[in-house]
Amino acid sequence: MYKCAIIMAAGEGKRMKSDTPKVLHKVCGKEMVNHVIDTMRAAGLDDLNVIVGRGAEKVKEETKSRNVSYSLQSEQLGTGHAVMCAKDFLKGKKGLVAIFTGDAPLIKEETVKKLMDFHEAKGYDATILTSVIEDPTGYGRIVRKNEEVEKIVEHKDCNESELQLKEINAGMYCFDIESLLDSLGKLKNNNAQGEYYLTDVIGILKAQGKKVGALITEFEETIGVNSRKELAQAEQILKRRINEKHMGNGVTIIDPFNTYIGIDVEIGKDTIIYPGNFIEGKTVIKEGCILYPNSRIKDSIIEKWVTIQSSVILESHVGEETTVGPFAYLRPETKIGKHARIGDFVEIKKSTIGDNTKVSHLTYIGDAEVGTGCNFGCGTVVVNYDGKAKYKTIIGDNAFIGCNTNLVSPVEVKDNSYIAAGSTITKEVPEGSLAIARARQINIEGWVDKKGLKK
Ligand code: UD1
Ligand code: CA
Repeated sequence: MYKCAIIMAAGEGKRMKSDTPKVLHKVCGKEMVNHVIDTMRAAGLDDLNVIVGRGAEKVKEETKSRNVSYSLQSEQLGTGHAVMCAKDFLKGKKGLVAIFTGDAPLIKEETVKKLMDFHEAKGYDATILTSVIEDPTGYGRIVRKNEEVEKIVEHKDCNESELQLKEINAGMYCFDIESLLDSLGKLKNNNAQGEYYLTDVIGILKAQGKKVGALITEFEETIGVNSRKELAQAEQILKRRINEKHMGNGVTIIDPFNTYIGIDVEIGKDTIIYPGNFIEGKTVIKEGCILYPNSRIKDSIIEKWVTIQSSVILESHVGEETTVGPFAYLRPETKIGKHARIGDFVEIKKSTIGDNTKVSHLTYIGDAEVGTGCNFGCGTVVVNYDGKAKYKTIIGDNAFIGCNTNLVSPVEVKDNSYIAAGSTITKEVPEGSLAIARARQINIEGWVDKKGLKK
């Protein structure tokens, strides 16, 4: 059967009290709407239409990598009205449309599949995803008759007995496209909120003798985020799921309550993660690494057996068996080789560092290519910026850079050379040579006595 999907993401999200559209608030590092898009795509839905309205341009911008189409709902007149705005997307299509809300990021791929399979197997015209909860306040209630659903009543429109119902509408559905298009035209807004409710489509279908069913799932998956408090709850739940997945794959997480791993991060087995680590974006951490406390690692590749402690690593690549930190800062486009050492208070920007090179302390390296087996003394500075432009420094293999050296770029230091401590290097250091670039020391004998300074 042909399948497509609509994601409702036009609402304002007043209760978030934010300048950012609600669906762009992040859960475990990813925007809620992108969680929903990615889950639906993983469930086999390729033709995705996102309904945008409030902050439409921002929502489009943040979802543009997802290859979805958009419908504009310029005025938010309710969820039914939102789907009406996607009429052009649905027109002429036959089959199933899955409609999900962009503010419920915890829905699982298996459940989306199950809902579609159930809908198809039962031959329903509409199938609603529901859950049963103790306190259904605020949610639409499912009114059943025998096995099927009669209607959905919004909380604000419930009578006394409907308020007692504990089965709630998750706001996620499958519809037969033609039946849906037909009933959208019949929606009215004569309800407590004066809105066109998508949920009223159910009653309309029933009145036409069509079949409507419901599939019950875990409440946790259906939680909608309407406030910052619910956003934090969603974060806790997803964080737990992500950490449990990695533990299941053989990763040790010492304190899962205080370890923050983004949803798209990959981690190899026997890696050990101490508390206070934030691992974000498309980061890949390979096997057997040790992440001591308190690092932030974003969009980076960390090869096997790397040790990292209290550092920030952004868009960088760290080779096997290298150690980083404590207190190192690797900025974008940095590539560190194997068995290297990047120590405390070292900042590296847009540079490559070869295998077995040691940059142990208090050093800045920017826009440089550094070979293998080099040693950087404490306090080396690559002077890569003259106030106008950035220049490149090239250092060969096995160079020994003495403490407190300035390398004024552009400059080249050839293989197997030495630089004396305290040098300011402004021209090429030839292979195999020692460069000394500092004032010669003069001693003035008896100076302290002569000045009467002796204590
Ligand atoms: C909706 C359901 C309710 C269900 C609940 C589950 C309706 C009428 N009610 O209520 O039965 O229990 O979800 O979470 O559908 N949106 C638009 N355009 C609009 C209005 C909303 O795109 O004009 C989008 C919002 O961005 C949001 C989603 O639709 O992503 C749900 O809207 P919201 O206002 O949160 O609906 P609820 O009151 O939670
Ligand atoms: Ca909601």
